[in-house]
Amino acid sequence: MAIGISSPFSPGQPVSVEFFVGRWDEIQELMQKVASVRVGRLQVAFLSGERGIGKTSLAHFVRVMVEREYGIIGVHAQLGGVRSLEAMVQKVLDRLVKESIGRPWHMRLTELMGRHVRKVGLLGLEFEFRASEDDLGAIVRDFPGALRGLMQQMTDEQEGILLILDDVNGLSQSEEFANWLKSLTDEIATSEQPLPLCVLVVGLEERRQELIACQPSLARVFDVVEIRTWSEDETREFYEKAFSSVDVSVEDDALDIFFRMSGGFPVMAHEIGDAAFRVDDDGVIDVEDARSAVFDAAEIVGRKHLQPQVFKAIRSDTYRSILRKLVQLRLPVGAEFRRREALEILSEDEVRVFDNFIQRMKRLGVITSGTGQGTYLFVNLLHQLYFWMEAERATEDS
Ligand SMILES: Nc1ncnc2c1ncn2[C@@H]1O[C@H](COP(=O)(O)OP(=O)(O)O)[C@@H](O)[C@H]1O
Ligand SMILES: [Mg+2]
Repeated sequence: MAIGISSPFSPGQPVSVEFFVGRWDEIQELMQKVASVRVGRLQVAFLSGERGIGKTSLAHFVRVMVEREYGIIGVHAQLGGVRSLEAMVQKVLDRLVKESIGRPWHMRLTELMGRHVRKVGLLGLEFEFRASEDDLGAIVRDFPGALRGLMQQMTDEQEGILLILDDVNGLSQSEEFANWLKSLTDEIATSEQPLPLCVLVVGLEERRQELIACQPSLARVFDVVEIRTWSEDETREFYEKAFSSVDVSVEDDALDIFFRMSGGFPVMAHEIGDAAFRVDDDGVIDVEDARSAVFDAAEIVGRKHLQPQVFKAIRSDTYRSILRKLVQLRLPVGAEFRRREALEILSEDEVRVFDNFIQRMKRLGVITSGTGQGTYLFVNLLHQLYFWMEAERATEDS
């Protein structure tokens, strides 16, 4: 790592437009949807994909692009933990106010929102939206009305709104939210007054299912855009772009390791890249560097990304010891193991709980079914490596 140069990797944060890689088809699809609201067609899409696959980053990228290309006003609200419609509207409008700073429509917006907007921050350069529960309730009840009011204040250059509702985990089991979404779409579809709006709901596929369970007609409302893992080419492009920005080159064999170990997961790719950036001391990443980076990354990923529920589950001595034995089957990373094989190396007690263990690990997303009957594999390769390291440490300790 060269002194003073900061890492081009951003584990844990949505990627900047500059380092964004891949997703070409999804970008096209989403941009077309947003473009079509300009002729008054409401669009509602659900952007789904696993944790860390890049949903927030893609939504961010699309927002920046449609603002630039189509004069769309983009609002990206992070709703993780938001549980009520009032809190949601508060977040959305606060985002809108914050994102208006430096835009030609900022003044109009603050005028429209009047007393609800105030300057905050030491230098008074930041703005905040605040409204009482009653006022928020009124906006919730007539959300299309509020957005129409907003559009009327805009100049001809602002042609529509992209509303990104990200991380709807706290709302997806709420009938209130599901019904609100449904009536929002109904109101706009049947109204005489057009409203150029695209709503992009972002979350895990389970969240979409939960919303549909609350309000079955949402199944027809959502156009689903699903993000998949990166291809090998995309993964390579990612590393080449990031490392060349700091004048570091990566040998081909090292790239192979990076691709295999990240499994095409952007979040893992960032962790590995960041570790490699720290390991490197000569501006060239070779196989040696790559290996040690992968171990460092596995350690970090284990601590940072493994869900607390997984740790809770493996606090059970039996579960932990099963997990250790499994990884000590010396599975090549990413390989499947057979139930039969596993049972052979387990103690009586462990055999007894093995099926429960597998069910639990599947639910937690640690293990998944393999291709054949009675075969399994670890979902995430860095996790597998982490468990393996844990197992090694346990044998050293004992
Ligand atoms: N297209 C991309 N190009 C580069 N990095 C990405 C891309 N998508 C995601 N990332 C990175 O992967 C990690 C997870 O991305 P994020 O958008 O937060 O995923 P999600 O919202 O699906 O959990 C972040 O560190 C982000 O910087
Ligand atoms: Mg996200």
